Amino acid sequence: NQNIYILAIESSCDDTSAAILHNKKVLSNVVATQKIHEEYGGVVPELASRAHQQNIVPVVHQALTKANIDKKLVSAIAFTRGPGLMGSLLVGTSFAKSLSLGLDVPLIEVNHMQAHILAHFIEGDTQKQPPFPFLAMTISGGHTQIVLVRDYFDMKIIGETLDDAVGEAFDKSAKILGLPYPGGPLVDAYAKKGDPKAFPFPKPKVKGLNFSFSGLKTSILYFVRKEVEKNPNFIAENLNDICASIQYTIVNILMDKLKIAAIQTGIKQIAIGGGVSANSGIRKALINSQKELGWQTYIPNFEYCTDNAAMVGIVGYLKFIENDFAKQDVTAKARYFI
Ligand code: KG4
Ligand code: ZN
Repeated sequence: NQNIYILAIESSCDDTSAAILHNKKVLSNVVATQKIHEEYGGVVPELASRAHQQNIVPVVHQALTKANIDKKLVSAIAFTRGPGLMGSLLVGTSFAKSLSLGLDVPLIEVNHMQAHILAHFIEGDTQKQPPFPFLAMTISGGHTQIVLVRDYFDMKIIGETLDDAVGEAFDKSAKILGLPYPGGPLVDAYAKKGDPKAFPFPKPKVKGLNFSFSGLKTSILYFVRKEVEKNPNFIAENLNDICASIQYTIVNILMDKLKIAAIQTGIKQIAIGGGVSANSGIRKALINSQKELGWQTYIPNFEYCTDNAAMVGIVGYLKFIENDFAKQDVTAKARYFI
């Protein structure tokens, strides 16, 4: 009957987040999303770093207040060490180190990609936990990977993108259509009203388990340009169908690779994470796969799919019980492989 309280900090990209966990349960998970990047159509690293500086104190304070615990109860500070934007990581790393000194509690460093995967082990009312071994596909604006997960800290990347992340593919396609950033959720919304087979887009020819999305973006760009030349209202008149076709192609690319991975490894336990897990097309395909392919699929509660500190906290808890602590001289790592 342990009582471990982890204060977790995430600042790898453009979300400043702090969470408090009591063992495997989340007491609070506060996320400050940076709006500043919208007008630039993508994350601007220098602005992200500055915004983290401004957000981190209030976000940590709010996490403690919402959890309603005294900071004297905190057992350890967990923070995202990498991978991510250096200027962003530095804010969370430095803050976590100071807090660990100030509260005189140990420090735990967390790999952001492991955190996306281990988010499945947060205990919640609706959260269903995958059994080992399982395949995890992390799909977001920054990552696209298929990982073979044998145990909490025994993971192997078996496939990843060679160029753009899948979220970028959604966002860049949306930009071509004149939609604001991040366009992924909008493509999803219009796709619901469109015909997925209206405009066939080619799937990339990448062997094995790796992904490529830059060719798709280019073919969408050329297609749209050509059609707009013929009919200036082409986008407006066909937005639902275009979005449905783009989403259909992307979901097929993801599912094709997952199917190969499942056959190659003989594993039918499939878990997904990352912001693109919100996509209704991929969710539907995964639900259908349970019947069609005999898979068991796992999607974390949405708040634990996008970047958040609760997922950093669960890794903190799992490392705490293993006495796996970091030293004060630990440094942020922009490229940090699992
Ligand atoms: O995990 P996340 O919040 O941040 C990182 O990139 O790490 O993921 C954000 C990405 C964006 O590219 C966004 O467009 C995409 O997830 N996204 C979606 C949907 N919701 C978020 N893409 C497609 N359909 C959605 N419903
Ligand atoms: Zn992420």
